[in-house]
Amino acid sequence: MNIWAHRGCSQRYPENTLLAFEKAAELEGLTGIELDIQLTKDGYLVVYHDEKVDRTTDGTGEIRKKTLAELKKLRIDAGEGKWEQIPQMEEVLDLLKDKLKSGLLLNIELKNSVFPYEGMEEKILNLVRQYGVKERVIYSSFYALSLERIKTLESGVKTGILDTKVSDCLYKLKGRCGADALHPYWKGMDLPPERIKNYTVRAWFSGHLYPEKPTGTKLDLAALERQGITDVFLNEPEMYL
Ligand code: G3P
Ligand code: CA
Repeated sequence: MNIWAHRGCSQRYPENTLLAFEKAAELEGLTGIELDIQLTKDGYLVVYHDEKVDRTTDGTGEIRKKTLAELKKLRIDAGEGKWEQIPQMEEVLDLLKDKLKSGLLLNIELKNSVFPYEGMEEKILNLVRQYGVKERVIYSSFYALSLERIKTLESGVKTGILDTKVSDCLYKLKGRCGADALHPYWKGMDLPPERIKNYTVRAWFSGHLYPEKPTGTKLDLAALERQGITDVFLNEPEMYL
């Protein structure tokens, strides 16, 4: 089973922060890091899960209505009197580029199924190309049209189509989006393993996020493998490595 850090090490550290990514990059045997991108009012790519900043920062409101400078003033509580900021995508690539070049993978999820963020695909493709890490990046989205656009804009890029059920992922993949992998919710494995045996199946988990306390319950990775899952995105990958 390939283990990914979902939003970085997001059980012990605040999700989608440089701290959570730094901790993930230190893990031996980790396959890759997953993160989410949004687009600011002034056209910058930032790493944040929700469309609004309310849940993890001391601010309120939609990212698409704020400038990068406004977002950078917001604080994310990292405990013990320490604070993180919403990272710009460039900062994450600066942090991870050497690790990526030596084998770590990066799954960039475009959070564009609520707001379709015009130009997001071009911006992220250009940035990844600029950092020379194209071979190490997998783009994903719930929005099949966006993945189709990515494939049209640049040849040779890898994509993974997101949905809750693996059957919905498969039907989207077989459509024009032409994704390279299925990214279902782990409880959405509604096809027999034979139907998906030729695919990479990266399953995501909801789980507990910092600062919630972990439950200590361990997943049965062998049972997940028997369902056809090849990779898992985990908030606490350190438990399995
Ligand atoms: O990319 C897999 C997973 O992260 C999708 O769900 O809500 O955690 O971004 P979410
Ligand atoms: Ca995600």
